[in-house]
Amino acid sequence: MAATTEEVQGSYGRCLRSKGFISRFYELLLEKDPRVAKMFEGTNWSQQNKALRRGISIALTFAGGSSIVERSMNEMALVHSRKGRAPVDPQLYVHWRESLLQAVAEFDPRFNNELRDAWAEALKATTDYFTKSF
Ligand code: HEM
Repeated sequence: MAATTEEVQGSYGRCLRSKGFISRFYELLLEKDPRVAKMFEGTNWSQQNKALRRGISIALTFAGGSSIVERSMNEMALVHSRKGRAPVDPQLYVHWRESLLQAVAEFDPRFNNELRDAWAEALKATTDYFTKSF
């Protein structure tokens, strides 16, 4: 049986407790495609790491079926839409999902197949939302 939303949130909490989780995710993401690395050339990393930390939390809450974060989700989706500040080619989202799954596998000491499936589902819901609505 797939893990629940609460279990995914718990897994995320464990990842954040060990230092370097978000940096590791970005390291994996940037080496997937030169287009991604190029997008982050001028980035302030301490700010970006904080923004994504919050962004993942919003995405997991949203994927869990809660609409209280809908506005925040829409803001993030807009940033990455064609007309946004950091437009993302939808084909690149698979890299985002794989890099995050890989980082979670490395950082959550209690990672297992059920968690992996539930994480994968939540991340897919997030990137589908970004590409379908904007
Ligand atoms: C391949 C996929 C993605 C790429 C290449 C990408 C790239 C970027 C870039 C270039 C920025 C701006 C950095 C800067 O200000 O220098 C950014 C900001 C951000 N991204 Fe992404 N992104 C991706 C997917 C996502 C996803 C799925 C989320 C959802 C959690 C997300 C959340 C954010 C947030 C919260 C910010 C900060 C927005 C702000 O400053 O207002 N990104 N992203």
